[in-house]
Amino acid sequence: MVSVATRAAIDAEIAKMPEKRGALLAALRLVQAEYGYLPPEVMEEVAQIFGLHPTEVFEVVSFYNHFHVQPRGRHEVNVCTSLTCSLRGGRGLLRQLQAYLGVRAGQTTEDGRISLGHEECLGACGNAPMLRIDDTYHLDLDWVRTQQLLDGLE
Ligand code: FES
Repeated sequence: MVSVATRAAIDAEIAKMPEKRGALLAALRLVQAEYGYLPPEVMEEVAQIFGLHPTEVFEVVSFYNHFHVQPRGRHEVNVCTSLTCSLRGGRGLLRQLQAYLGVRAGQTTEDGRISLGHEECLGACGNAPMLRIDDTYHLDLDWVRTQQLLDGLE
């Protein structure tokens, strides 16, 4: 169940919109902030709030890669694998990360520390290869620097 505080925040978002559905993304962000991901029963509750079929909510969730339907690690590590970063070693960096962490992209380490992923261009092509850890971009990477960044995560 969505908490009273989150429900109030969702209602406040709905009140800002000319149409209720316009607040759906904001509502999903609020719910994900509460749970850390979007469990199926919570997506159903969101669907009820918005008068939608649960499938419609799932379609929205599955379209955006910042929504998660599985529990996530304490840190999100996402390597840019678009063209410029790939040409400058981004895909190799991702392969090294997978081997180092023992998970594939899209998975979370057993200790729940890191969820590894890759994403499209983050607009920092001039400093490729790069990756994002949570909300911070790390630029001009090589494997040594990447390892240092990982080892510094709690
Ligand atoms: Fe990686 Fe643009 S291609 S930041």
